[in-house]
Amino acid sequence: MDNKEKALEHFRERSQSYNRSSRWVADEELLGLISALTAISSDETLLDLATGTGLVARCFRGKAKEVIGLDISRDMTRSASAHVDRMIIAPMEAVPLASASVDACVCRQGLQFSNLPKALEEVARVLKPGGRAVFCHLNAYGPEDRSDAFKIQALRNPARINFFMPGDLEAALEAAGLTVTRNVRHLSRESVNTWIGHGANRPEEREAIRDAYRSSSLEFKRLHRVEMTEDDIFDTMLFLLIRAEKKG
Ligand SMILES: C[S@@+](CC[C@H](N)C(=O)[O-])C[C@H]1O[C@@H](n2cnc3c(N)ncnc32)[C@H](O)[C@@H]1O
Repeated sequence: MDNKEKALEHFRERSQSYNRSSRWVADEELLGLISALTAISSDETLLDLATGTGLVARCFRGKAKEVIGLDISRDMTRSASAHVDRMIIAPMEAVPLASASVDACVCRQGLQFSNLPKALEEVARVLKPGGRAVFCHLNAYGPEDRSDAFKIQALRNPARINFFMPGDLEAALEAAGLTVTRNVRHLSRESVNTWIGHGANRPEEREAIRDAYRSSSLEFKRLHRVEMTEDDIFDTMLFLLIRAEKKG
């Protein structure tokens, strides 16, 4: 099974319960940050890459001239049609839009499944000169927690192929010819039972994730402020929001 098929299978199983699969998905503060960093105007076109169920896209509906959603999964996007003006089912590595045709791109929690250089090349291509892109992705805090954080992220979603530390996405964006202009941190306190109860894994896979938390390093536990209660585990996860611009 190639990675695209893995992602399609994973999100087919998650599509019904996706909007309840963690705290961050519907977090108004996080969505507000994405919206504020994008600063869309009513005469502009916005492309939401890996739009999923449209939770990010819907923040822009009515505020932009056109909101376009793009995703590989028909299952995930079934409920998103109400939040976009146009839906495109396609991979973000080959966006079927003309070059220099959108004013702004957003992408929350999508790049971890992509061929990163290709996806960012596409962002740089479809943006108009002077256009901007805002990304929001889960990151490890740094070298101290990366090994446990990446192990847990891989166990939680086998379709994930990219793992981010602060600086990684900025470097990839600069390599794609975009200029990073803002970087904002957002912490999200997550119930691990909710986060791993997304409907696309088996009980023994969820138990392997709990075991990974129990055996994680002291540094991981300190940085993530891990709290083990009788029936759950809590993890403070780091999301980095990055704004990048295409030269005017
Ligand atoms: C974690 S969800 C994020 C959904 C939405 N952006 C949000 O923040 O709620 C990841 C989405 O990426 C989509 N996806 C995975 N690989 C993709 C690819 N190569 N191109 C486009 N979409 C992809 C999945 O189908 C899924 O809907």
